Amino acid sequence: DLANNLTTALHLRHLPSLTSRLSKLKAVILGEHLASDDDLILPSHDFSQKAHVSSFEKYLEMYNRSIEDPASFWSDIASEFYWKKKWDQQVYSENLDIRKGKIDIEWFKGGITNICYNCLDKNIESGNGDKIAIHWEGNEPGVDDSLTYNQLLDRVCQLANYLKDNGVKKGDSVIVYLPMLMELPITMLACARIGAVHSVVFAGFSADSLVQRIMDCKPKIVITCNAIKRGKKIINLKEIVDSALSESSQNGVSVDLCLTYANESAMKKEATKWQKERDAWWQDVVPECSTKCDVEWVDAEDPLFLLYTSGSTGKPKGVVHTTGGYMIYTATTFKYAFDYKPSDVYWCTADCGWITGHSYVAYGPLLNGATVVLYEGVPNYPDFGRCWDIVDKYKVTIFYTAPTLVRSLMREGDEHVTRYSRKSLRVLGSVGEPINPSAWRWFFNVVGDSRCPISDTWWQTETGGFMITPLPGAWPQRPGSATFPFFGVQTVIVDEKGKEIEGECSGYLCVKKSWPGAFRTLYGDHERYETTYFSAFPGYYFSGDGCSRDKDGYHWLTGRVDDVINVSGHRIGTAEVESALVSHPQCAEAAVVGVEHEVKGQSIYAFVTPVEGVPYSEDLRKSLVLSVRTHIGAFAAPDKIHWAPGLPKTRSGKIMRRILRKIASRQLDELGDTTTLADPHVVDQLIELADS
Ligand code: WTA
Repeated sequence: DLANNLTTALHLRHLPSLTSRLSKLKAVILGEHLASDDDLILPSHDFSQKAHVSSFEKYLEMYNRSIEDPASFWSDIASEFYWKKKWDQQVYSENLDIRKGKIDIEWFKGGITNICYNCLDKNIESGNGDKIAIHWEGNEPGVDDSLTYNQLLDRVCQLANYLKDNGVKKGDSVIVYLPMLMELPITMLACARIGAVHSVVFAGFSADSLVQRIMDCKPKIVITCNAIKRGKKIINLKEIVDSALSESSQNGVSVDLCLTYANESAMKKEATKWQKERDAWWQDVVPECSTKCDVEWVDAEDPLFLLYTSGSTGKPKGVVHTTGGYMIYTATTFKYAFDYKPSDVYWCTADCGWITGHSYVAYGPLLNGATVVLYEGVPNYPDFGRCWDIVDKYKVTIFYTAPTLVRSLMREGDEHVTRYSRKSLRVLGSVGEPINPSAWRWFFNVVGDSRCPISDTWWQTETGGFMITPLPGAWPQRPGSATFPFFGVQTVIVDEKGKEIEGECSGYLCVKKSWPGAFRTLYGDHERYETTYFSAFPGYYFSGDGCSRDKDGYHWLTGRVDDVINVSGHRIGTAEVESALVSHPQCAEAAVVGVEHEVKGQSIYAFVTPVEGVPYSEDLRKSLVLSVRTHIGAFAAPDKIHWAPGLPKTRSGKIMRRILRKIASRQLDELGDTTTLADPHVVDQLIELADS
């Protein structure tokens, strides 16, 4: 205890080198083994001094207040934003306990605001109109563009007016199927400005996935571009949209307008297939509209967007985020987790098609008046140094990415990094999956020259913003740990019976009270919202993740405990992949598991039983993979098809995935008890076929 207290005390007084020596001494006294000398990594004295939260003590002070009096904590922050009308006296209301009735979360109800206004007009009014809002870097080096806050507002207003002129009203859905062009955040903001609900679909999803989403949210309009260029590849997006729109109209949902941006660097207008009565070229119609567009003022609880994500069942879930709480939460988490200052230049490599792009490419940074880098291309084009070339070009200070990108660059050697200066960098960030300590160290030592703290942010589509994250400058980091909960977030770890466990432990990660950025429902299916997230452990929101907490309270995420896998930071439901496989006429049955992968974190491993009489063949393998690409998208293609004469099932017919996972990762001596299987012989057959 003495050693512990001293460590904290010294750290608080900014005596980092002493703290570090003392923690090693403490380890020796306690007979503990520290993984390496880098086990605790302290922010520099200078960094801490200038940080928004400069010590653990200060964090605790703020954290405790956020927990003891959330209403006043969040009201004070919300007051810094523009509200047409202030929220009702009751700042929030919640019921997270399914046993007490309907799950119901509200924040700032009765408050009238607009997130687009807060991102743009408010920053312009405070004198930042000429500040760069977006630096856009094209796929090809040398192709770039930028927009100031003034220019961005003009562009947003033009599109907002176009949408209004074409009948899009408050509450209507808009499907956005665009790559990382300026037009993507412009579209999101234009929808928000008029109170329309955007639903961005990642441009890597297939036509079938697009159909599914169109059928679910019945958009007034679909916004896309004709084609995209990623690296050397050209992808014809319009063709995908055409086929999705024709299929959904055959199924009773027709969309009358498809606004298409002509991305002529990828494909000429003339080469694009066109349906005159339905399609409009963005460049022909949007610039004609006025650059002034009144804001549609909305209630804090009016929906802002829908974003489909994968769960344990086949059908993607439409996660609904509302306006007020999401706005306050993304802005605040962005500011503190990256220690954002107005002079920063911020680059997040995520695509706006995922939640990270929503909260931390678009809304969070723009609400803070930040300068954001938007990159169209891929990290290895024209070579593996592209990221650092971009960092140097724009003098990026905060760089936020996924462990999979870190690992893929790490493999290519340090020289791709070290030939660039990277002097501008001051904070790094990681998201999407647990970052393994060796990738963490490479990121820290090589990319950040051992100078930049790493914010390893744990959160989810459902949580809207960061839940567990370091506050750079406030406390020492441990490679691979997301550290401590953000303000207002009461994380708990529960055992399999749903009982909270204290201190050093491992279990299921849950949250006890609502936070402003929480999702409010699943689109059109509140019951599924309640059963998926609030029934497993009554009284709590269940994240689906496993987590352990060390003796010092640091959190270590251990990955999903449900049937969701995380491939290169992309969240994929095994059930979705299985249903894509079994839709193949020659597939009788399929079971999908995730296996560890050096670069992607996890990769998709599929056990497939062909229809009786169909032989295993390379052609069949290829066409099964193709089936997944067509039903979901290329990013969900299985890396391995393992032929299975049968699948290991219990006598009641349940597939034993535990056994499949062990076979897939070749941990054959850990198969456990197989005698309870309906046909134990199946396991031997699978092992025999493992490398065929
Ligand atoms: C995983 C992405 C460990 C986790 C923002 C979660 C992480 C899922 C981290 C959500 C992290 C995200 N450390 N695991 N820092 N960040 N995850 O909805 O399993 O695409 O449940 O949101 O990603 O994925 P989603």
